[in-house]
Amino acid sequence: QKPSMRTRVAFEVAVLQLGGSVIYLGQEDIQLGQREPVKDVARVLSRYVDGIVVRTFAHKNAQEFAAYASIPVINGLSDLVHPCQALADLFTIQEHFGRLKGLHLGYVGDGNNVLHSLIQGCAMVGVNVSVATPPAYRPNASIWTSAMRRAKAHGAVVRWERDPKRAMQGADVVYTDVWVSMGKEQERQKRLKTFRSYQLNRALLQRAKPTCRIMHCLPAHRGEEITDEVMESPRSLIVAQAENRLHVQKALLMLLLKTTR
Ligand code: CP
Ligand code: NVA
Repeated sequence: QKPSMRTRVAFEVAVLQLGGSVIYLGQEDIQLGQREPVKDVARVLSRYVDGIVVRTFAHKNAQEFAAYASIPVINGLSDLVHPCQALADLFTIQEHFGRLKGLHLGYVGDGNNVLHSLIQGCAMVGVNVSVATPPAYRPNASIWTSAMRRAKAHGAVVRWERDPKRAMQGADVVYTDVWVSMGKEQERQKRLKTFRSYQLNRALLQRAKPTCRIMHCLPAHRGEEITDEVMESPRSLIVAQAENRLHVQKALLMLLLKTTR
C-alpha cells in the first residue's frame, strides 16, 4: 500500500540470492481492501506463493493478512510497527560495537512505527533506550508498557524525556526518523512546527558520547529531523544499516521458510 525502496529491493534481492523468485504487487494491482477484502487476498495468494511481505497503512490489515494466510506473512511496515527495520538496526549495532547488552540508545523525534519496533527490540536484548518526543507524539501506550516490561526482564531501562538533550546524554547510539511518516502528509505543516526543537544536529550530538554512532532508517529529510552535516558524519552507520536489511531479511526468510517446509 505504500512506496518502498530498501524493504522491497532488499527482500527481492534476498529471495533471488536464495534461489527463489519474486512477484511485486502494488496497491494499484490488488487494491487491498477495496477491490476485495484482505482475507480473500491472503487466502488466495497463499495458494500461489511460499511467503508474503506486506506493507500496509492500518496495522489491522497486516494482522488480518497473517490471520487468514496459510504461509509466512512478514510485516514490511505498517502504521504501527516496522519489525524488519528493528532487526537490521540491532544487527548493525551488534556488528559495530560487538555487543548489545548495556549499550545506551538515544532516540529523538516522532513516536512512530520505527521507534515502536526499535524499543521492543532493544528491550528484548538489553539495550537501554531514552526517547525524546514532543508530549503529543509519545509512543503508543501499549507498546510502551510491553517494552518497559521486557526491558525490566532483560535488565535494561526504557525511558521517555521531553527534552532531547536529556535523551542524548551519554548515548552510544543516536537515532532519528522522519517527522512526517507515510500517510501523515496532511499533518505536515503542524508537525514541522511541533518537532522543530527535536532535530538531530551538531549541538544535540555533542550530548552523546564522543564515540557515539548515528543511525536513521531512511529515507531521511535533511534539514528536518537531521542535518546534512550529521547525516554525512564519519560517525554515521546509516548506509551499513541499510545494507544490513538485506542480510537480516535473508536470514528471516531462511528461518520462516524452513520452519514451514
Ligand atoms: N527504511 C525503509 O523501510 O525504507 P523503504 O521505505 O525505502 O523500504
Ligand atoms: N516512519 C517512516 C518510516 C519509513 C521507512 C514512515 O512510516 O514513513
